Amino acid sequence: MKIAISGKGGVGKTLLASLLSTVFVEFGYSVIAIDADPDANLAATLGFPHPEKITPISEMSTLIEERTGARPGQIAPYFKLNPKVDDLPEKYSLKYNSIKLMVMGRIKRGGTGCYCPEGALLQALITHLLLARDEVVILDMEAGIEHLSRGTARTVDKLIIVVEPGRRSVETAYRITSLAKDISLQNIAIVGNKLRNQSEREFLISSLPDFEFLGFIPYDQAVVEADLANLPLLDASQPITTEIRNIYQALLSTTQAASTIN
Ligand SMILES: Nc1ncnc2c1ncn2[C@@H]1O[C@H](COP(=O)(O)OP(=O)(O)OP(=O)(O)O)[C@@H](O)[C@H]1O
Ligand SMILES: [Mg+2]
Repeated sequence: MKIAISGKGGVGKTLLASLLSTVFVEFGYSVIAIDADPDANLAATLGFPHPEKITPISEMSTLIEERTGARPGQIAPYFKLNPKVDDLPEKYSLKYNSIKLMVMGRIKRGGTGCYCPEGALLQALITHLLLARDEVVILDMEAGIEHLSRGTARTVDKLIIVVEPGRRSVETAYRITSLAKDISLQNIAIVGNKLRNQSEREFLISSLPDFEFLGFIPYDQAVVEADLANLPLLDASQPITTEIRNIYQALLSTTQAASTIN
């Protein structure tokens, strides 16, 4: 199963990515979590030790040069657009609590997207992870879907857009949906997060009438406190963990993907 997670800044994409990864592992799947947000913090949320010491792929200059023929930041007339990447998940993923993690990192963008060596390597790597790996792949993205393409849209079993009760995150959900349509990505679902009461749930359902909702995660101050105390979020909130398990079940029942169980 391949799951991509997007949504407005701060809505809870990384929380969902990390807790879903944990639940899939709990149910016996092998999971590779990909941090594709330039402000990467999935490692910290998953409790990896010393997350600040992890070098993102986009900063591995020697590797990028070896695979694409050009160094990042270099004005290179030619570089390989389809570099070899199939060995990278084994070499450069980290493992903690049975979850494999790859941190993609930031790309310095020009005005019209990035035709740069590090962009080519990341794109090829994400495409490979989505098309050729057997694991459950969980992709933590930013408020867009630029890591996805027409070529990978079909393999995404679910694009989950996280929303919180508020108009801006709903507007972002519509914008992401329209980007997804551009690449023919159809399997979109919503997860509501930070819900405090029934009327917030009704607000989301009525604001997004044509969408499938996979679940509603309650707001829990315990998560905020765990964050402040730099403690792992994973065991912070029983109500949230319970809802993530429901979302996991909803994902299984709405996607027919054959996934490899350990
Ligand atoms: N259900 C919740 N209850 C309370 N706090 C929450 C909840 N979900 C997320 N948070 C808090 O909100 C903040 C943002 O969450 P998170 O980092 O998961 O969002 P994000 O969408 O990944 O943000 P970014 O766009 O910065 O990557 C974090 O401090 C997190 O602890
Ligand atoms: Mg995040």
